[in-house]
Amino acid sequence: MKINSKILIIAGSDSSGGAGIQADIKSVTSLGSYAMTAITAVTAQNTKGINSIIPIPSKEISNQIEFTSKDIKPDSVKIGMLHSTQVIKSVLKSINKLKLKKIILDPVMVAKGGAKLIDDKAVLILKKKLIKKVDLVTPNIPEAEILTDLRIKSLLDMKDAAKVLLNLGAKNVLIKGGHLETKNLRDIFVNKREVAIFTNKKIKTKNTHGTGCTLSSAIATYYGCGKTLKKSCELGIRYVNNAIETSPNFGKGNGPINHLNSFIIKKKFK
Ligand SMILES: Nc1ncnc2c1ncn2[C@@H]1O[C@H](COP(=O)(O)OP(=O)(O)OP(=O)(O)O)[C@@H](O)[C@H]1O
Ligand SMILES: [Mg+2]
Repeated sequence: MKINSKILIIAGSDSSGGAGIQADIKSVTSLGSYAMTAITAVTAQNTKGINSIIPIPSKEISNQIEFTSKDIKPDSVKIGMLHSTQVIKSVLKSINKLKLKKIILDPVMVAKGGAKLIDDKAVLILKKKLIKKVDLVTPNIPEAEILTDLRIKSLLDMKDAAKVLLNLGAKNVLIKGGHLETKNLRDIFVNKREVAIFTNKKIKTKNTHGTGCTLSSAIATYYGCGKTLKKSCELGIRYVNNAIETSPNFGKGNGPINHLNSFIIKKKFK
């Protein structure tokens, strides 16, 4: 296994540094790999909320992906927020053109406060086209509900939703349980052959800004370094858990987590 991989991140910028591209770069770097970026939107936000979102034109997003990847070939790709049909189509085109492999899709659709971030047409194309093209899709509960039209209130519901996503053409699914009101937190990994449930104690904290972004980029890093997808999910979840546990408590709202929770990189690969 080579620890030092090259990871391409396609996502939005979070000026507060806790989520989005900033969280992705910190995660990839702290796991010993090399981060490259294609920025899809620029947001002004802090731990209390989003003030503005400026979308980057789809052509420019493709330019970033293609010009960068032609020179340095990514070992894996993490896709985060894609705000419109046009952007999803451009990203798909670039993925095909450059034959990018090992893609993790975090289908960001709902903000922490519950606001829907992308329109219905974009959801449809994500569901019909993009999901099939990637190796793993990592919805949280509200996103899994939108993608499957199911209500999710339990682990059993999560399993059912994952099956619906497999039927839609997803190869591997990780449904994140952070939004369920349970003492233990369960994330469920499913493909046609296996089901794995990762259980962790729910940490009592308001500092969970960027947990989803961090998790998907950590998974992309482990996967790019040669771990299996299932192992990458297990290690990624552990990385996020440690980062929440040691969060620095910055800001007055949902504070960031501690991406640099350990400098001993090799330890994080065991
Ligand atoms: N309070 C918590 N304690 C322990 N683990 C947590 C907690 N909250 C979230 N996690 C973990 O963080 C990871 C991301 O899950 P979550 O459901 O928060 O994703 P998300 O909603 O996409 O996050 P975001 O709001 O950043 O987009 C999962 O592995 C989840 O189990
Ligand atoms: Mg999320």
